[in-house]
Amino acid sequence: MTDNAGSGVVEVPWNLTVPEADIHLVGYGLRLPNDLTLEALAVLKRCNRVFGIPALHAPEFGLPAMENLYLNYGTDKDRHRTYREWLDLVLDAAATDGPVALATSGSVMVGALVAHRVLEEAPRRGLTVHVTHAASCFDGIWADLNIEPFFGFTVWEATTFVKLGIQPDTSTTLMLPQAPIFDVTTGPDIADGTIRTSTAVAEIRDHLLGYYPPRHQVHFVHTGSGTGTRGFTSTVETLPLAELDHPGRNPLSTLVVPRLTPSTRLDFQRPDTVATKDTVTS
Ligand SMILES: C[S@@+](CC[C@H](N)C(=O)[O-])C[C@H]1O[C@@H](n2cnc3c(N)ncnc32)[C@H](O)[C@@H]1O
Repeated sequence: MTDNAGSGVVEVPWNLTVPEADIHLVGYGLRLPNDLTLEALAVLKRCNRVFGIPALHAPEFGLPAMENLYLNYGTDKDRHRTYREWLDLVLDAAATDGPVALATSGSVMVGALVAHRVLEEAPRRGLTVHVTHAASCFDGIWADLNIEPFFGFTVWEATTFVKLGIQPDTSTTLMLPQAPIFDVTTGPDIADGTIRTSTAVAEIRDHLLGYYPPRHQVHFVHTGSGTGTRGFTSTVETLPLAELDHPGRNPLSTLVVPRLTPSTRLDFQRPDTVATKDTVTS
């Protein structure tokens, strides 16, 4: 932020500057509707077609009906086939019926393979892209565990981490998203919204045991997300690495492995309790 930075005050105009592009990549943030940004609302309203993963139904906010890309998943279908379909749908729609949006939970730049493919592929097809930012699950996890990522942070998608035999930098905090669905290649069940969890989590444990002692404490973190008070309710499940052989209680969790040697200079005390104050709906 540089405007008027010398005075320490930023004059904020009332009018939004709304970006224009053939394709908008939009994050919803974690807590709905709370995290929806002014830009996200403005951009989505302008699009001729909006593809949601998942689709949001929020007519009170003026959001147009979305096409639900979640429906392309299948319990016996490789997720990568679904991702290919999403990519083609979005690019084809942008070419004939733009502007369009691809919108998803959290940040659209975090753990969203298709958004990255759109950024890569769109210019080759002469299409412009704009990214609308939003809070990701990392923001929530950093708050829950009081982590300052500037002081050493590593992230690897769990299956990629183990299958590529990645050597972790144990001086940083390591986060392994998708640990509960380690090595699961299929999609969620669209009928009931459930996702198959992993029976092979012990493989992550065995890989980590090459670098951390068995008593090293690890955490499955599900940070507050979704609607209503769920958005403020986080759960942290802590266990010694030696006992990491199950996918955790919530399939939408991230495994967090603290640095090998805690540091009073780099680490902050974790808040004992997550927000418990009464919440107000308005
Ligand atoms: C496909 S990625 C999507 C990430 C999302 N775009 C974001 O910015 O948070 C899904 C993975 O993100 C992590 N994740 C998503 N929501 C989470 C939450 N509420 N708490 C912890 N981890 C979460 C889990 O590891 C999950 O398997």
